[in-house]
Amino acid sequence: MTDAALDVVEFLLTTSVYSDDRTLDENDLPPAFRRVYWTGGVDDDSGSDDESGGSGGSTRKPAGISRPLSVTTSTARDATGVDRPWEAVSDLMFTERDEFSGTITLAQQDMAEEWFAERVDDDRLLENPTLAKHFANHDDYAFDVTHEEARERNRPIQADRVWIDGLLNEYFDEEDDEEMLDLVDVRAPEEVDMSLDDLVLTEDQQNELNKISKAIEHRDYLADIGLREIGKLLFVGPPGTGKTSTAQALAQDMDLPFVEVKLSMITSQYLGETAKNVDKTFEVAKRLSPCILFIDEFDFVAKTRRSDEHAALKRAVNTLLKSIDNISLIDDDVLLIGATNHPDQLDDAAWRRFDEIINFPKPDHGMRADILGLITRTMEIDEFDPQLIADVTEGLTGSDLRMVLREAVLEALTEDRTTLTQEDLLNAVEEFEERDTLKNMDMMEGDHDALVAGGDLDKASDGGHSHDHDHDHDHEHDH
Ligand SMILES: Nc1ncnc2c1ncn2[C@@H]1O[C@H](COP(=O)(O)OP(=O)(O)OP(=O)(O)O)[C@@H](O)[C@H]1O
Ligand SMILES: [Mg+2]
Repeated sequence: MTDAALDVVEFLLTTSVYSDDRTLDENDLPPAFRRVYWTGGVDDDSGSDDESGGSGGSTRKPAGISRPLSVTTSTARDATGVDRPWEAVSDLMFTERDEFSGTITLAQQDMAEEWFAERVDDDRLLENPTLAKHFANHDDYAFDVTHEEARERNRPIQADRVWIDGLLNEYFDEEDDEEMLDLVDVRAPEEVDMSLDDLVLTEDQQNELNKISKAIEHRDYLADIGLREIGKLLFVGPPGTGKTSTAQALAQDMDLPFVEVKLSMITSQYLGETAKNVDKTFEVAKRLSPCILFIDEFDFVAKTRRSDEHAALKRAVNTLLKSIDNISLIDDDVLLIGATNHPDQLDDAAWRRFDEIINFPKPDHGMRADILGLITRTMEIDEFDPQLIADVTEGLTGSDLRMVLREAVLEALTEDRTTLTQEDLLNAVEEFEERDTLKNMDMMEGDHDALVAGGDLDKASDGGHSHDHDHDHDHEHDH
């Protein structure tokens, strides 16, 4: 019997048990299963208004999962990833398909349970709170699992993309969408491709992050004792030192949606609407809560306040500052993280709004060696000595080291090699330094346009770096 059959039977059992046991909720379904049934904020095109005559005039269905959950070939395929779900289980005596509606059911649930129980272990059962509860309470089976443990392991619905989209749909009109999408980027933790294990952090950073996860864990207590000025972090450090990555990793680690505001977009075409959109962004964050609200390029705020800017832009920035004041980890379950490369440009008004400043310095020798070890962990490198490479990469950031590695890999591929050598890495470091020298020379002459327009150099410079040039350039007229 194949795994495909087991997957489909699990899905059939789960939907059946869930439909019968009304005490179960969305968080009892594994993410892949509940995704299929989630009807969040979908426009109801049927035309007929809700007969309850809600005053809001919304024709959108309330978000949620409604019973009973019926299984068709297509829901089973979506939920399990099995290409031909009916074929996978049609041989089993306890399955049945209705030719007309295409629904697949369990003709004999007892038999299905027995068949399933023979083939799963505790670990697999713990991935499925619905079945964990069912089998834990069942006298015929002796799994060593509890419902609570399975629920704890299961990702909460708040972390699902479908749930997030449902909420966003409920909240935004069609015409708002485009402007908002430019300004905010909402990512589900499942879409965040960064975990704390991928990062080398300083002790100080680790302590601060620990502190904040403890604060989140105990926010009821903090509310009780009236400690509300908490949960606004500012990440400070040069480009490429892991600020964005750390914020994302936190989202993944804590299973929180990641809401990113792009401050540079505030200057974009929709200036008149911007103050309103900033308001909305914070509303989104509150609705998606618990979540992380990440505001990058925070120095932009201070710059704008100082300079002689468009009134609408100033208004937007003031709205932003006010919104920051009005959002709270304790009351709203929103963790605010700001990031900046230019702490010197922040005025008091901006500083004052953060209760913890976390420094992201360029990595020291030990960290560089660790980062090298980390980013090469899935690779084969002959005579690899990260310490030695750390020796010759003083001043390079984590992002730079990644670039060095990429260069080495590409260089080796030109010789059709997929095994690197220490030598490849050392050459790549040298190459990187050469490029860096060119870049700095150019910076001193202040001739950015020449660099951007110049064919060769442009190609040679990394995406991240040319990005930085763009930003500097964009903001230049602010002064
Ligand atoms: N300490 C680190 N450990 C592991 N990887 C790192 C570290 N610092 C940076 N990196 C890697 O470098 C890349 C860039 O990092 P990231 O975008 O987080 O930097 P940043 O500080 O946000 O930069 P910027 O100020 O330009 O936005 C990422 O791929 C990240 O994984
Ligand atoms: Mg960043």
